[in-house]
Amino acid sequence: MINHLKDDISFDKILVIGLGQLGLPVAKYVKEKGFDVYGYDNNQLTMDNAEKQHGIKKIENFRDVDVFMICISTHREDDISSPQVDGLMAITRKIAKEASNGKLVSIESTVPRGTTRKMFEILEHRFHVVHAPHRWYALEEDVHGVNQLRVIGGVCDCCLRTGIRFYNGVEHEERSDLEYYSGTKSYRSLHIPMYSVSTVELAELSKIIENADRYLQIAFAEDLYMFCKANRISFAELRDAVNTKWNVNILEPRDGIGGHCIPKDTRMFLETSEIKSKILIAAQEVDKNYRKYIEGMIKDLKQINH
Ligand SMILES: NC(=O)c1ccc[n+]([C@@H]2O[C@H](COP(=O)([O-])OP(=O)(O)OC[C@H]3O[C@@H](n4cnc5c(N)ncnc54)[C@H](O)[C@@H]3O)[C@@H](O)[C@H]2O)c1
Repeated sequence: MINHLKDDISFDKILVIGLGQLGLPVAKYVKEKGFDVYGYDNNQLTMDNAEKQHGIKKIENFRDVDVFMICISTHREDDISSPQVDGLMAITRKIAKEASNGKLVSIESTVPRGTTRKMFEILEHRFHVVHAPHRWYALEEDVHGVNQLRVIGGVCDCCLRTGIRFYNGVEHEERSDLEYYSGTKSYRSLHIPMYSVSTVELAELSKIIENADRYLQIAFAEDLYMFCKANRISFAELRDAVNTKWNVNILEPRDGIGGHCIPKDTRMFLETSEIKSKILIAAQEVDKNYRKYIEGMIKDLKQINH
């Protein structure tokens, strides 16, 4: 899609919205890169902590912000595995009302297909809007942190160009790093490698499919574990043996598929698909059975030790 917004905007004042598990490291990274960084979180304690412990300044109003990086939660407060984008829509309405036209809005939160375009509509096509879903991983932040390779999609061509310029400094994908550093125009950027896709919906899907794929792999490990138990076979020995093959990686089942990303994102995929993936529905059933199975095992162990 082509729109008429100017795409040579400057990136000076950056606002990270949502300073939780993802947003705080993002804000710290952006600060390290020398930008003027502000934060906004509807939880006062979270905001105070970001300000006092990490020097992320509290924003007074959205008027002069050049880039909005949205990192807010996309699950229901009372159920972390249920997707909910009400908060995202509320923040979009706030940006539409308070911010200056032509700025960049980047959605880093994980969202169901179609969400970014809805936000673009709320913003009345007055902003550049990209989706750059995150792959940040808390347990391996040094290798899978803020600056790892990411997918990016824009609502319009100029949105994508502006987004890529902000994230990795190049004006066009074809431009080499050499041109960027030696060129007359040098852009301040986050220096994050980005993989651009042709539509913003594809960027949305890429993230939830990543996590749906992980869901399937874990569910298969759970299924295999229950099979082994029923047949008195050592799961660990079988897994080690199978994993000696170069293209196989059976995971450990552990205590069920948890957290606020993998189950929620799998549901995002299922709930927004006209044709539901049968294999994912079966995987959800496997996980439910596995949890019951583990609970039963723990109960039995407690009775034996009593
Ligand atoms: N944590 C991860 O490892 C990770 C990795 C990749 C993607 N994500 C995605 O990033 C998003 C955020 O995840 P998280 O782990 O940081 O969640 P989180 O719950 O730790 O933090 C979210 C923050 O957003 C704030 N918030 C919620 N609604 C708000 C609103 N309307 N206005 C302002 N602030 C608001 C909350 O107070 C909270 O501090 C989710 O979509 C998640 O799926 C997370």
